Amino acid sequence: MTPTEAALAGLWLMLPALIPNSAAVLFGGGAPMDLGKSWRGKRILGDGKTWRGFMGGAASGTAIGVLQIALAPVLGIDSTWGFGDWPWSLCVVLSLAFGSMIGDSVGSFVKRRLDLGRGVKAPILDQYNFVIGAIVLAIAFQSGWFFDHYISGNGIYGLILFLIVVPLLHRVVNIIGYKLGKKDVPW
Ligand code: CTP
Ligand code: MG
Repeated sequence: MTPTEAALAGLWLMLPALIPNSAAVLFGGGAPMDLGKSWRGKRILGDGKTWRGFMGGAASGTAIGVLQIALAPVLGIDSTWGFGDWPWSLCVVLSLAFGSMIGDSVGSFVKRRLDLGRGVKAPILDQYNFVIGAIVLAIAFQSGWFFDHYISGNGIYGLILFLIVVPLLHRVVNIIGYKLGKKDVPW
């Protein structure tokens, strides 16, 4: 695969990790994941992390991934653009989607420890918390797939492009969410 192909495939394959964040905003509401509880005087996660947001986000990322798996043969694309053989491919997709939401929650946990209130800007942490979660889970459960697509050969171009695109996309999506009245702040 050429560097360009590897870079674009790298973005395509991270969709199940990218979608959950935006979907969580749409599904969010109801009981907070920490049930309003505090730890050492500070909220564990805060009101911005709800079970509906978590599950809706993770389910949306999984749905996109399953659609991509189903579409691969229809689009006639080769394994560069795939999650591997079924059912391992589902394991990759679940790792990316749930890893993304777990990373997002861990990010909020860290923010609360640093005394940053819900929705307060935390540069880098806000943009990369879900990326780190998705990558950690993908390596934990399907390391072969991750290294084949994002480390070996030209795969690293996929990882680099993804890491550059994420903060830009994050910004655009949050501005849209803010304009739609789904988010209180445009970040
Ligand atoms: N959301 C949710 N449940 C989640 C993640 C997100 O309900 N597990 C919804 C919440 O309405 C949240 C919005 O999506 O306010 C935006 O998500 P995010 O920016 O991650 O949360 P913040 O409100 O900024 O809170 P934090 O400071 O903890 O990141
Ligand atoms: Mg936020």
